[in-house]
Amino acid sequence: MSDKQNIYILAIESSCDDTSAAVLYNDNMLSNVVATQKIHEAYGGVVPELASRAHQQNIVPVVHQALAKANIDKKLVSAIAFTRGPGLLGSLLVGTSFAKSLSLGLNVPLIEVNHMQAHILAHFIKEGDKKVPPFPFLALTISGGHTQIVLVNNYFDMEILGETLDDAVGEAFDKSAKILGLPYPGGPLVDKHAAKGDPMAFPFPKPKVKGLNFSFSGLKTSILYFIQRETSKNPNFVEENLNDICASIQHTIIGILMDKLKKAAAQTGIKEIAIAGGVSANSGIRKALQESEIKYGWNTYIPKFEYCTDNAAMIGIVGYLKYLDGKFSDQRIAAKARYVI
Ligand code: KG4
Ligand code: ZN
Repeated sequence: MSDKQNIYILAIESSCDDTSAAVLYNDNMLSNVVATQKIHEAYGGVVPELASRAHQQNIVPVVHQALAKANIDKKLVSAIAFTRGPGLLGSLLVGTSFAKSLSLGLNVPLIEVNHMQAHILAHFIKEGDKKVPPFPFLALTISGGHTQIVLVNNYFDMEILGETLDDAVGEAFDKSAKILGLPYPGGPLVDKHAAKGDPMAFPFPKPKVKGLNFSFSGLKTSILYFIQRETSKNPNFVEENLNDICASIQHTIIGILMDKLKKAAAQTGIKEIAIAGGVSANSGIRKALQESEIKYGWNTYIPKFEYCTDNAAMIGIVGYLKYLDGKFSDQRIAAKARYVI
């Protein structure tokens, strides 16, 4: 086992439809390889059975590539970190089983990682002299599976202050895109078209949800009815107005997120605000957050694009932090589809 100054973590992520492996040297990323599964595009969403099969095919080459890119021998690895959950069980099983076997084979410790904690702790991967959020801070975790406002007191002391009661924000983007006939995953495409459109063109109602919780299923329904109504009058409505529709949807979603974030900041008195998860790649939310620095006096933290969507480097940083604390797992550990932070 290595000392606590020179720690090499090999990390594995397989919670959904990205097979990823990374190598970290302490808090520095040496490699972060992601194989995105294209097969799901044809089905308009992730097909769990196909996802686990693709993970099985990808995992060995992806790990091999991560070690080669990091230019280290696997004998140097101090520990194996892996995503235990939350996620699709069949997908998680591939990464979990692989990580367990590799830790046995290399005779190094095993470290289980919560995927949602990892999205938040991705902020602590070293990026030059970029500032990291000081504790306590608020994290808005926005992905294809989750929408949460988390109070982060310390690395492993987190409290969910609010979350979605139905769809996640990434789903809201993807399902809206599907209604518009855009391919899966539609979130990045809505973002792309929104950049060229008028956010005020089509006002959509914001849901009324108590406290710091969210709801996105009503928005999806109102978008569906709106599109059905307009296309019955003009069959070319979507293609003639695609940019404006996307801009209006994005504007509404960002409005919902920012309203709750403002409420959380006011309730807790915390002005250190971070975003995490795949949807933090969205240019609208990044802009809104940057503007809030001047508007509300917040200090905001936005991860590097590569660390926003699913990736193993974020699993590696949690592995490193747990390694320092001696938080290791034993070989009986099992994947967990529902795993609260
Ligand atoms: O965190 P992530 O990679 O996977 C999950 O753990 O869910 O998040 C994926 C989600 C998808 O719903 C995708 O459409 C959305 O993030 N997403 C975006 C953008 N980039 C990714 N949504 C809106 N705008 C983007 N630029
Ligand atoms: Zn994720």
